[in-house]
Amino acid sequence: MIKLRYLAAAVVATGAIQAAPAADLAAGKALAQKTCAACHGVDGIGIVDLYPNLAGQKASYLAAQLKAFRAGSRNNPIMSPMAKSLSDAEIENVAAYYAGLSQR
Ligand code: HEC
Repeated sequence: MIKLRYLAAAVVATGAIQAAPAADLAAGKALAQKTCAACHGVDGIGIVDLYPNLAGQKASYLAAQLKAFRAGSRNNPIMSPMAKSLSDAEIENVAAYYAGLSQR
């Protein structure tokens, strides 16, 4: 019986590892509120014309842009520095968070 329980736990654990890494929406929201909302708004709507809306944009597009800013293949004096310190996980999380917000 004990062995079976270990086996079940191992199967569950393996499943969790093999599943596609799910974005952590709560972490994405926290990062967005702390770092991005000053320009892109708490609701993902840019606070002035200069700052693009992110709400409802496709997550993979947002992540690709953040990685491009980070790598320097997309350049903007205001936005590029924002992306420089982001990890891949932070990018996936914040992209998923903004993608889940409704467009105005
Ligand atoms: C100081 C203001 C500012 C902050 C803070 C800021 N951004 Fe930006 N962001 C901009 C500007 C300006 C642009 C437009 C850049 C351009 O024209 O290429 C932009 C563009 C973007 C884009 C590309 C949008 C598109 O449609 O291509 C993404 C994605 C983005 N920001 C995400 C973020 C995230 C995530 C954060 C927080 C980690 C953040 N930004 C913080 C100013 C800011």
